[in-house]
Amino acid sequence: MRHTIQQSDSENTLNWKIVQLIWPYLLEYKSRIVIALACLVLSKAASVYGPFLLKYIVDALSLEGVGQGRSQALVLVPVGLVLAYGFARFSMIILGEIRDTVFGRVTERAMRRVGLKVFVHVHSLDLDFHLNRRTGGLARDIERGTTGISFLMRFFVFNIAPTLIEIGLVIGLLFYNYGIAFAAITLTSVVLYILFSIVTTDWRTRFVCEANRADSAASTRAIDSLLNYETVKYFTNEGYESQLYDDALADWESARRKNRLSLLTLNSGQALIITVAMTMMMWLAAQRVTQGSMTIGDFVLINAFMMQLFMPLNFLGFVYREIKGSLANIENMFQLMDLSSKVKDVPEASELFVSQGHIQFDQVAFHYQPDREILKRISFEIKPGEKVAVVGASGAGKSTLVKLLFRFYDPTYGSISIDGQAIDRVTQHSLRAAIGIVPQDTVLFNSTIFDNIRYGKPDASDDEVHAAIRMAHLQHFIEQLPEGVDTLVGERGLKLSGGEKQRVAIARTLLKRPPVLLFDEATSSLDSKSERSILAALREISEGHTSLVIAHRLSTIVDADRIIVLDQGAIVEQGTHEQLLAESGHYAELWSAQRKQNVQ
Ligand SMILES: Nc1ncnc2c1ncn2[C@@H]1O[C@H](COP(=O)(O)OP(=O)(O)O)[C@@H](O)[C@H]1O
Ligand SMILES: [Mg+2]
Repeated sequence: MRHTIQQSDSENTLNWKIVQLIWPYLLEYKSRIVIALACLVLSKAASVYGPFLLKYIVDALSLEGVGQGRSQALVLVPVGLVLAYGFARFSMIILGEIRDTVFGRVTERAMRRVGLKVFVHVHSLDLDFHLNRRTGGLARDIERGTTGISFLMRFFVFNIAPTLIEIGLVIGLLFYNYGIAFAAITLTSVVLYILFSIVTTDWRTRFVCEANRADSAASTRAIDSLLNYETVKYFTNEGYESQLYDDALADWESARRKNRLSLLTLNSGQALIITVAMTMMMWLAAQRVTQGSMTIGDFVLINAFMMQLFMPLNFLGFVYREIKGSLANIENMFQLMDLSSKVKDVPEASELFVSQGHIQFDQVAFHYQPDREILKRISFEIKPGEKVAVVGASGAGKSTLVKLLFRFYDPTYGSISIDGQAIDRVTQHSLRAAIGIVPQDTVLFNSTIFDNIRYGKPDASDDEVHAAIRMAHLQHFIEQLPEGVDTLVGERGLKLSGGEKQRVAIARTLLKRPPVLLFDEATSSLDSKSERSILAALREISEGHTSLVIAHRLSTIVDADRIIVLDQGAIVEQGTHEQLLAESGHYAELWSAQRKQNVQ
């Protein structure tokens, strides 16, 4: 799923969405906004007034130079003015800092809120999205999106509008004090500058997007490769991996190069416009000073104004460029937010209420891809408290049954119900809370064994966790560990053996104690001895619970109330162990094949 950046056509809706997104965060801190705005106004006033003070100082000094008699008053005037000038500059800077500090809280809160929102959203997406996502790239997209929002908030509120106002003010003052010429030059150059910046920045946006895409791709590559560390070593493919990563980095480098060259164009153009305007104004002012229609103070004032004008203008160019970039990043993130889960709660979905645990599959058909049917209109039921086993070749669709019951996917035909409530009419949360799964491949969090087990019921007491550990026959293994239950299990639990991981998975499901239990080849990684003891424990626990057991070793399910034999997505046989053996069909064949293996 490649998120491409579409320009212009979605621009209006995007901007509106961003306003909608940012507005609530601004309202959350009204007083901070007021203080920040006050600082802004005062700092701008100080910055516009500064050059006037400078002019007075220069004029006072030149007057002093003319009149030789150094009276007290004449010395005092510049000192007062100099102090005032210093104060104005200091106020301008410090007020700006206060504004940023006060407003920082608002942006950080917005980043936190948005970050959480995206996280929750990504978690709400269906399994299919997560199987197709690229973790590294996804993380980068989100990171850039939230940073983009904070940038936008800071600069949209405090830079674009105030800078435009400041520019207007300066042009007005120039016009008022020195006539049309200066104001006209300034206005023309400002308009030219802004137009040039907008056109060039728009042209550059695609290079920025290209660089971002390359950045995400490189990140995806690196993370995928590092996650597969062991596989890389098994095949000594470090060189190959480095090559792939370097290819991705090379794309990134070349995208950045284009990005940089286009930035050079932008910056040089901007500098040219500014320099021409400044030179023209200085020349004009110098002429007027020689003609005597302006004082040296005026010359300095104009110079100071220009500095003051072009600095924020330059900044405006930077801000515009960054805002364009931020918008692209935010759009990328919004595309993620716009994805909706294929598995959704219906409006007004009720809570699943499990009284007995009667599960019914009615004509359930399913496919992952349209041209490959995985389940073919399967019907069966598990009566309250029953243990039903599903057996069949690998790829027959056994795990898919579990995924459908857990509602990771919706069937394409037919329905599944628990105690008469169709599972697609109840909330996913209540459905999943009622089901405990020991999956085929257990993945653990990179934390301690204890925490991983407690995950089954986060508010469980230590005693409850220890009881679950005993029931899953983990205590013997844990006693051998120097750090006991506080042993870290490593990334995805890779520091544990397959059987140990399965036992941790069993322990945390036992802790959850849901009314319906699903075991997907839950003991396949255990040796026969520990399997037997765990099965005894599981049998005890499933007592009175409805359970669906997918088994690899048939010896583990001979006691099932019913055995369903699945072959290529269809039920081919159904019955108790004895009945199926008597039928001498698929099951009997499988059974004798496994018996032979055991004898050997
Ligand atoms: N997310 C998926 N996308 C496409 N095909 C899938 C997906 N998950 C499983 N399959 C395919 O569906 C078939 C049944 O899978 P599964 O139910 O896991 O089989 P098993 O009976 O071994 O547990 C397999 O052939 C598998 O390749
Ligand atoms: Mg399976």
